[in-house]
Amino acid sequence: MLFQILLLALLPSLTLQYSTCTDASLDYQGYTYNVDADTGEKIWSHCKFPNPKFDYSRCGLTATDGHHWVCDPDYLISSQVDVVDLALAMIQTNTSTQCSGPDGEDQSYIVAVALINRIRIPDLQDSTTCINDCGEIQPTLNTTARSATSGELDAIMENFADQLRSGWALGSCGNDVIILYAQDIDKIHVSVGYKASTLVTDSVVSKIESTFRTRTIRAGFKLNGLLK
Ligand SMILES: *[C@@H]1O[C@H](CO)[C@@H](O)[C@H](O)[C@H]1NC(C)=O
Ligand SMILES: *[C@@H]1O[C@H](CO)[C@@H](O)[C@H](O)[C@H]1NC(C)=O
Repeated sequence: MLFQILLLALLPSLTLQYSTCTDASLDYQGYTYNVDADTGEKIWSHCKFPNPKFDYSRCGLTATDGHHWVCDPDYLISSQVDVVDLALAMIQTNTSTQCSGPDGEDQSYIVAVALINRIRIPDLQDSTTCINDCGEIQPTLNTTARSATSGELDAIMENFADQLRSGWALGSCGNDVIILYAQDIDKIHVSVGYKASTLVTDSVVSKIESTFRTRTIRAGFKLNGLLK
């Protein structure tokens, strides 16, 4: 409850409440992405999205061991992916301990990034709009019939990023922050855990967004200063 209130205060965008889907055909079908029949592009769901902690190659990482923090399955920042990953790892080194992790390890703030080309677009105006067993909003929008509004896209990004944060489960005490970028709709959403929300306030979120826009794609990633 407190979490919800803080989240609402932090991110006063569209935090919609959805009812649970009762139609079993809307349940998660086991595909992390669907392939666009015309372009061959992957259209991502957050469900079973690769986790940079261990799905190295599916996340576009060159690493073969250790923990990592960026997942770039469409290779949007392929040449900088390791630089961004290192900058994210340094946030942990350089911030103070918040809690213990599952193996008793000290955890400080954890910031991870997911970059995708295309995001699955659900229909938020359908009278049957609901949330399925994997947290996907259903049904999918028929984009031939209409385009999603910018506000709807924000809500879709928010749902994806929040679900990804709980799926990746990187922070043991809400000390985690997930930055999601979707290239085709050019949207960023920052999902902030409860503990991190005392630090990553609204204005920091805007700073992250603008830093991200101006620097990530071209020049690597400098979040460290924001998270001292
Ligand atoms: C963070 O810590 C590392 C050493 O662990 C150091 O090399 C780096 O300069 C620090 N970064 C910032 C922004 O302070
Ligand atoms: C999507 O919308 C278009 C235009 O309204 C319609 O012709 C088409 O049949 C719809 N597709 C589906 C799968 O409902």
